[in-house]
Amino acid sequence: MAKKILVTGGTGYIGSHTVVELQNSGYDVIVVDDLSNSSIDVLDNIEKISGKKPAFEQFDLADATKTDEFFSRNSDISAIIHFAASKAVGESVQKPLLYYRNNLVSLMNLLDCQLKYNVANIVFSSSCTVYGQPDVLPVTEETPRKDAESPYGNTKRVNEDILSDSILAFPQLKGIALRYFNPIGAHPTALIGELPLGVPQNLVPFITQTAAGLRDELKVFGDDYDTVDGSAVRDYINVVDLAKAHVVAIERLLEGKNKKSYEIFNLGTGNGLSVLEIVNGFEKATGVKLNYKVVDRRAGDIEKIWADTTFANEELGWKAEKGTEETLLSAWNWEKKVRGIK
Ligand code: NAD
Ligand code: WQD
Repeated sequence: MAKKILVTGGTGYIGSHTVVELQNSGYDVIVVDDLSNSSIDVLDNIEKISGKKPAFEQFDLADATKTDEFFSRNSDISAIIHFAASKAVGESVQKPLLYYRNNLVSLMNLLDCQLKYNVANIVFSSSCTVYGQPDVLPVTEETPRKDAESPYGNTKRVNEDILSDSILAFPQLKGIALRYFNPIGAHPTALIGELPLGVPQNLVPFITQTAAGLRDELKVFGDDYDTVDGSAVRDYINVVDLAKAHVVAIERLLEGKNKKSYEIFNLGTGNGLSVLEIVNGFEKATGVKLNYKVVDRRAGDIEKIWADTTFANEELGWKAEKGTEETLLSAWNWEKKVRGIK
């Protein structure tokens, strides 16, 4: 009998790619999503890729009653991967209460249900944003966290503490926090990908929308940083590689391979690339010339960050495999599919 995994936020960008990889690995998946930042059509596209449509329920995980009622009907859940959250940094500055309520209450409701319904295992979506601007690079899992630059970033830090303190208090719980660096790209089939609502805040969706003619030009936020070409540096990781890491993390918990009841892993490539290197990589990979202009730095941006992936590579036996140009091409193929561009 296949083990049943609850994927919260499973019609979202990273969640949908993870559902596919879980199904490819033989797991039975149930998705809970309130569709606040994704479309139910994603389920059909997941089915086109994996051959199986995941079970789905639509409700707000910040609603304790609905969350409890769901678990009372799904007592056979072996583990949870918790993607569901609000994740727009800029929006979080305008709407801090929405972000604290949504991101913190959802996790606490899940933990309450894990205790009540004996669901021991949880994998949590964290973010390299908890490191702020590191003093030393690359960052390891021991790099000290810094004060968040945004309410969103603070919800990630607080959620890590809620999770670790709950696991400490309740030994029946086991959890892994995965700190993602910058996920980019789309599934090679171009059937699922990132579909930001409104004007994209993130670099790669803005690039692909500029290339598709939806945006006049890409603004490069600063070229006066202390980096290879002055533009800011990040660790861009292919979303399918990232999704596969979640399958490994789930297996680690289900098979009792975790060395501690609460573990943290950095999920990046270990390589830092500048904005201009990403722009050039996109042009090289796609043959599409990008219209861009260097402007002032964006408030709240850090200068540079990339991961030391040794712990994830050695302890999880996982490594990011897909190259940057292949990943940027997958993002472009997805954009063309969404916009009906040949
Ligand atoms: P996304 O917005 O595409 O997916 C999140 C999903 O959660 C959406 O489908 C949304 O409808 C759903 N959701 C939100 N609040 C909910 C609630 N209360 N109840 C039920 N469903 C809810 O975002 P994503 O990029 O796939 O990110 C997934 C997770 O990874 C988030 O926790 C995010 O903070 C984290 N993360 C993302 C990035 C990134 O760059 N995309 C980087 C680091 C961490
Ligand atoms: C990357 C680089 C920008 C857009 C954010 C969140 C983080 C995580 C990932 C959730 C930066 C530059 C961007 C543009 C640009 N999300 N840029 N022009 O800021 O590293 O991380 O998304 O967890 O928490 O902070 O990603 O893609 O917004 O920016 O020059 O139009 O691209 O300045 O240097 P970021 P990003």
